[in-house]
Amino acid sequence: MVCIVTGSSRGLGRAVALAFGKNRWKVAVHFREQKKEAEETASGIDDSIVLQADVRDAGEVKSLVDDVIKKWGRIDILVNNAGITAASYLVNTAGEDFDVIVNTNLKGPFHFIRTVGRHMMKRKSGHIINVSSYVGVKGGKGLSAYAASKAGLIALTKTSARELSGYNVMVNAVLPGYMLTDMGAGAGDRAKDTALKENLVKDYSDPQRVAEFMCHLSETKGISGQVFNLDSRIL
Ligand SMILES: NC(=O)c1ccc[n+]([C@@H]2O[C@H](COP(=O)([O-])OP(=O)(O)OC[C@H]3O[C@@H](n4cnc5c(N)ncnc54)[C@H](OP(=O)(O)O)[C@@H]3O)[C@@H](O)[C@H]2O)c1
Repeated sequence: MVCIVTGSSRGLGRAVALAFGKNRWKVAVHFREQKKEAEETASGIDDSIVLQADVRDAGEVKSLVDDVIKKWGRIDILVNNAGITAASYLVNTAGEDFDVIVNTNLKGPFHFIRTVGRHMMKRKSGHIINVSSYVGVKGGKGLSAYAASKAGLIALTKTSARELSGYNVMVNAVLPGYMLTDMGAGAGDRAKDTALKENLVKDYSDPQRVAEFMCHLSETKGISGQVFNLDSRIL
């Protein structure tokens, strides 16, 4: 079985790539800038390939997908994990800064689903898991672009599930809790404190547990178009 995990040079993506690798999957480890970190992820997986692409670029996404198919002949799972954030109140956010976040977090998965979806439809098999966020449902002060992109990703999940499930291609979204990855740890004390305050078990999310859930989800049959909240903040 073959999977692509976008943004698996570090953070949650790395945990997901390693979890699939542990289950003896072939894993395409993807990065944009952090090649060394991506190679470090790959070193923990028996059969892997390390590939670079900017998810905002449709041509780079297509050539990555072509490379994976050339190497292994198939793609069974796509995890759309790569993402960025930036804190800025809406009225202070420049249009270009909004675009960078939406193009990464929403248009990136669109490019991947379009390309990998065609392949999976032909094979009549596959599972796409999109990494959205609690903020995409609840909104977040200072996170207008991030929240909008993650809300859009939920709509993209449900729409592509409606279009692809008839071809036995499942599409689901997960909402990890607050994780102390580069993204989560870099968000500042106020964001971290608020996340803990709202959390019923008063703890951050563990990327490894989120990854294990995704491995389990990828093996389930007949579940599509769903949004799984892996958090202890109530939606
Ligand atoms: N951390 C949290 O608390 C939290 C909560 C809910 C949801 N999430 C979501 O979980 C996902 C992973 O987050 P994380 O915390 O693991 O983030 P992270 O540690 O900052 O890692 C981000 C990953 O995305 C890649 N990436 C960023 N921009 C890219 C682009 N334009 N093209 C290709 N790859 C790109 C990075 O590649 P390079 O290393 O090469 O730069 C890196 O691998 C994101 O979608 C995030 O929104 C995170």
